Amino acid sequence: KKEYRVVAIPGDGIGPEITKVGIEVINKAVEKYDTKINWVEMDAGGCAIDKFGEPLPAKTLEECKKSDAVFLGAVGGWKWDTLPGNKRPEKALLGLRQGLDLFCNLRPAKVFEELKDASPLKNSIVDKGIDILVVRELTGGIYFGEKGRKGEGEDLVGYDVMQYSKKEVKRIAKVAFEAAMKRNKKLTSVEKANVLEVSRVWREAILEIAPEYPEVELNHMYVDNAAMQLVRAPEQFDVIVTGNMFGDILSDEASIITGSIGMLASASLRDDNFGMYEPIHGSAPDIANQNKANPIAQVLSGAMMLRYSFGMNEAADDIENAVNKVLKEGFRTGDIYSEGKVSLGTKEMGEAILKYL
Ligand code: NAD
Ligand code: IPM
Ligand code: MN
Repeated sequence: KKEYRVVAIPGDGIGPEITKVGIEVINKAVEKYDTKINWVEMDAGGCAIDKFGEPLPAKTLEECKKSDAVFLGAVGGWKWDTLPGNKRPEKALLGLRQGLDLFCNLRPAKVFEELKDASPLKNSIVDKGIDILVVRELTGGIYFGEKGRKGEGEDLVGYDVMQYSKKEVKRIAKVAFEAAMKRNKKLTSVEKANVLEVSRVWREAILEIAPEYPEVELNHMYVDNAAMQLVRAPEQFDVIVTGNMFGDILSDEASIITGSIGMLASASLRDDNFGMYEPIHGSAPDIANQNKANPIAQVLSGAMMLRYSFGMNEAADDIENAVNKVLKEGFRTGDIYSEGKVSLGTKEMGEAILKYL
């Protein structure tokens, strides 16, 4: 029997409700392939601030380093919103990404046939097909540049430096080109090279890697235009590669055109098989503890874990197929509900997925 050790970090808000579902689904999916996951539950985020006075206890990071993968729900909430930057729950996430060197964030946005009506876009646009992979750089850019405050009173200035080295850009570019080779061989690099120096270096680095992938059709797009093109004609995109902040923003936008942010999974990776898997959405404090959250993004993040970290492609397919079947049967959580469908809570959606697995 094959065994893996995975750290589960439920976090805050809807995190615990959806990770519970995710873990149940993963356990059932791997069982069939004579595999067992040994889960180690750890605290990070707001709950860790309450218990230990810090968002990312050293013990949590240590446990992650000793494991094969990390399965995270979400962190953050109103309760901790007035804390200073390095004491906030979100710092846990940033600390995990940086501490584990997870420079590459894959965020696939694909429209499920069954959910066409949940998309805010017209059917005529959705019908052309939405299948986008956002490759977001995750350990650099404005998130990790020098930051601080200076001056006082009306002259108080807050600043966050956005910078990228060519090395950092080339590292993420390679992943994006490789991904494009396995997909439709189209890569859009998104930046703001008409204004930002950091983006001009970004573009130069991309152009230096491009000759290694002559089959990939590369184009460059400014981020403002990209935001607009995503709703105007999303079918033009295959793989998008972009920096940390633009990737954060564009992946939320890409999620909603496929129907709901509650559907989008992500993998945060480095060069080996280790990864952290989490939905792209947050802790949704507005619906926490009400059995309303859509657990599908979490469940699909589990499928990504099986695929990328454990090479269990069949088990991952099984999970994705089960989700498809559940949607075909008409089962919906509130965020993807439309008239005539069956409305389910978080727990019940989990049970439905388990049933079809
Ligand atoms: P959010 O993604 O938590 O919520 C945005 C909206 O989407 C809300 O209306 C919410 O109810 C809805 N939503 C999100 N996930 C859903 C799901 N699974 N099912 C149904 N509806 C869902 O973003 P926000 O409100 O801007 O942030 C809330 C908190 O989460 C903040 O503290 C933020 O910093 C944090 N956050 C954490 C992560 C993470 O842990 N990865 C990601 C984003 C935001
Ligand atoms: C995400 C989140 C995080 C980010 C926050 C909570 C730090 O929005 O994972 O998309 O900005 O990366
Ligand atoms: Mn985000």
